[in-house]
Amino acid sequence: MTEQATAVARPRIARLADGIFQILGQKPSCHVYLIRGTGKNVLIDAGLPTAIDHLDSCLAELGISRDDLHLVLLTHEHIDHVGAAPLLFGRTVIAAHRLAANKIALKDEFAMMSKAFSAAVEGFRVDMWLDGDITVHLGDYRLRVLHTPGHSSGCVCFHEPDHGLLFSGDTLMAGGVMGGIFGSGNISDYINSLELLKTLRLNAVYPGHGRVSTTPAEDIAKALSRSRELLDETKILFDAMNSTRHFEQLLRSTRDLNA
Ligand SMILES: [Fe+2]
Repeated sequence: MTEQATAVARPRIARLADGIFQILGQKPSCHVYLIRGTGKNVLIDAGLPTAIDHLDSCLAELGISRDDLHLVLLTHEHIDHVGAAPLLFGRTVIAAHRLAANKIALKDEFAMMSKAFSAAVEGFRVDMWLDGDITVHLGDYRLRVLHTPGHSSGCVCFHEPDHGLLFSGDTLMAGGVMGGIFGSGNISDYINSLELLKTLRLNAVYPGHGRVSTTPAEDIAKALSRSRELLDETKILFDAMNSTRHFEQLLRSTRDLNA
């Protein structure tokens, strides 16, 4: 038997709970989650534009199509999470935090990390700008929107409080892996967001990449420890910089305004 013949096909869909499915991302695209509530069908994240055929075929396997999606919730503005969203327009409402929505609407390539994924940015309308204390009711599930900046300024997690679930995007991954700090991200905000997640009673974390976690408390503790180390490293890096030279250009622009 050839090596090719013995290869085991990688699963495309994982059933995580009643009505909750993980459509596994084809790297480097993110995982997409489908929640089939008794009231509404919700997608969390959309993946890269090139992942749309994979998404379509997985939805078909689950017995629905794009037109059956009532809401698409985006965890943040990075292209590997939002790139396919404009292809889902139809009867679907697309929602993201306002600090992600504005970057998407303005086609902010730097903030969306399009070059890192060799993907073209297509600016699109985000129908619902999430801000404040918002809960989405799906019938048997409800999702609380938690603003968790750090990986980027527009990051949110979706918390299902009745079942102790967290759809964490790139904010928290299994093993306490963090998503890194890019573009509009900030380490102090990241630490604050992890402190917020620490207060939740969680049974599972459903991340944007990697495996599902059933040890949220340990993961958050590890991520907090790592993030504080990162803050210290940032301070060392700042001290090592020639601050006069680095800030001269910024200060000059202010002085020019006053001239
Ligand atoms: Fe990201």
